[in-house]
Amino acid sequence: MSENTAEKVRSIETPEGTFTIRLALDDLGEIYPGMIRYTVEASRGAETVYTYAVNSYEVPPGSLIDARQAAEIVFSRLAHDVASRPERYARPRVFTRPLPGSGTPDVVILQGSPRRFGNSARIASWCDEEAARAGLSSRVFFLQEMDIRACIGCYTCYNYGYCPVDDDMPPIIRALESASVLVVCTPVYTGTVPSGLKAVIDRCQWLHAREKVLEREVHARGLLVAVAGRRGAEPFVCVTRVVGMFMENLGIRPAAPVLAGNLDRIRDVETIAGLRDTVQAAVRALLAPRDEG
Ligand SMILES: Cc1cc2nc3c(=O)[nH]c(=O)nc-3n(C[C@H](O)[C@H](O)[C@H](O)COP(=O)(O)O)c2cc1C
Repeated sequence: MSENTAEKVRSIETPEGTFTIRLALDDLGEIYPGMIRYTVEASRGAETVYTYAVNSYEVPPGSLIDARQAAEIVFSRLAHDVASRPERYARPRVFTRPLPGSGTPDVVILQGSPRRFGNSARIASWCDEEAARAGLSSRVFFLQEMDIRACIGCYTCYNYGYCPVDDDMPPIIRALESASVLVVCTPVYTGTVPSGLKAVIDRCQWLHAREKVLEREVHARGLLVAVAGRRGAEPFVCVTRVVGMFMENLGIRPAAPVLAGNLDRIRDVETIAGLRDTVQAAVRALLAPRDEG
């Protein structure tokens, strides 16, 4: 986390000991222009027992109070609360939900089609098979079977590195954080990715925040495999851009995408000569150890 500047400090003597209430400012302008985070903390000795954070991007235009005013209000109320019932602050109060701890795969495959047995799912199984052949663990996330809600644009992930939306996203975030390879398998829907995959892509802003705020780096290399009904390059223009931006945002280095069109006529990817080999060779190239220098 960046070094912060203490704006206000108040010391409070109580029967439970001496508490310090601190309001600090972090300039997060390197993440987004003008982003400032205010953190209000109560500590007892060296131990932080309560934390509240708010940033300037959370506050929509026209709000009655800005982030700084919100932090000032919390500072005053917290000082009052600590003085009047210090026993509540004798132990740390943790508000974040931990991510799943272990069992993360080497290869993460995001299967973006709502069709459980469609072309993208078939391609995902080829990628899974290739990872297994290389002796690596892999996991296909069938996004349509998961409860993933749309990003609400609250920006609170930039406060603590956690997202407040309570759904099935945590295992995906945890897996991407430690994966060495990410494969996105998706059909083209109205020129871009299906809405379920788009929701995951947007919610990965949380991972971007973890990288920036908690300095959790993502080291994966990425591959897009997309299918489309129409023939030619045109159906893929937007999907390659969207998935490219997604990877770029997270610092994932993308390989050249594998794109298979004309499926309105061909129907089944299994019948496209050489496609399975092409996909598996692309995955294999990412699995190979590489000189990182
Ligand atoms: C709602 C919807 C929108 C689609 N939009 C496009 C499109 O814009 N361009 C295109 O070439 N194909 C489009 N398709 C066709 C799919 O990309 C194609 O059928 C693909 O093979 C489906 O992959 P899947 O079997 O993995 O679901 C669309 C299909 C659906 C159901």
